[in-house]
Amino acid sequence: MVDSYGYILLMNTTQNIWQTLRSRPFAALAPMDDVTDVVFRRLVQELAPADVYFTEFASVEGFCSPGRKAIERRLHIHAEEGPVVAQIWGTTPEYFREMATELAGRGFAGIDINMGCPVRDIIKNGGCSALINTPELAAEIIAATKEGAGDLPVSVKTRLGWSKPEIREWLGFLMQLDIAALTVHLRTVKEMSKVDAHWELAREIVALRDELAPELVLMGNGDVEDRHAAEERIAETGQDGVMIGRGIFHNPWAFEREATEHSIDERLAALTRHLDIFESTWQDGEKRFDPLKRFFKIYVQGFDGAAHLRAQLMDCKTITEVRALLASFPRS
Ligand SMILES: Cc1cc2nc3c(=O)[nH]c(=O)nc-3n(C[C@H](O)[C@H](O)[C@H](O)COP(=O)(O)O)c2cc1C
Repeated sequence: MVDSYGYILLMNTTQNIWQTLRSRPFAALAPMDDVTDVVFRRLVQELAPADVYFTEFASVEGFCSPGRKAIERRLHIHAEEGPVVAQIWGTTPEYFREMATELAGRGFAGIDINMGCPVRDIIKNGGCSALINTPELAAEIIAATKEGAGDLPVSVKTRLGWSKPEIREWLGFLMQLDIAALTVHLRTVKEMSKVDAHWELAREIVALRDELAPELVLMGNGDVEDRHAAEERIAETGQDGVMIGRGIFHNPWAFEREATEHSIDERLAALTRHLDIFESTWQDGEKRFDPLKRFFKIYVQGFDGAAHLRAQLMDCKTITEVRALLASFPRS
């Protein structure tokens, strides 16, 4: 496995991906539904690689049902991708065990359990952030996933608490369940994304980790735009790494080590490359064209005429139309 410095990561049998990453500050690309599929992850890796990537969240109930095909698309990885962690969610420990067992042989660097998504339709059945209110079930799910995963490290991504930060009660509880890594989105469930992330609590979480589970790798998450900002947060708080989500919407080169200006040519070439990878990954009809439109804004911004070009791109109905429009755009 090659990391974003271009070094070969030597992983021996006693060192999992998290312990390897921990040796220096690191930045992860966050799991994002309908965004961080294999196509976009590969593109980020080509432009400016993250140190570790997460899949979109994938339901264990869906995976263990006749509807598995749709879930499998979320778990598609490419042989040359950087370390990718599969993120899974649900409520049935037996399905977590079954899914983890199947994922163990597929080239993932780890399995992450989503205990942080606050979306009402998702949590009404008790999954994701609702597990904060049912810690016994959360513990059962972790144990079942670890059983299925074998040597593959199991991690958790969660929030500070339900309606208030529950650092010792909830995060401390998780820390004692022998997981390999813990990502804390520094907001409560009730806060959704409406307030600034509580980075002021990040040190307290590190101190608790040092007390309860010194081997556990910690990642802070929330409102961090790029690698440079991530390294500042790590230096200030003692977190091992930072996870970056929406920052990638503003800058597809968010993980580069030296921030650089990117030309129109580079931006449009990145969009073209996205289309290339999309077409070489999915069979006709396997993924719809419309969801691709959410990516246009990522590349087409920050230059004269970008807003007009974006409006035209949004009217396109096929990839061929997009390509023709990009080819006709004046570059200088
Ligand atoms: C479009 C979108 C989809 C998301 N999907 C997931 C997901 O599948 N799993 C998950 O754990 N978090 C998901 N999140 C939350 C992000 O991983 C991250 O925790 C959140 O955006 C805060 O980080 P940021 O401020 O760097 O964006 C999603 C966020 C966005 C904006």
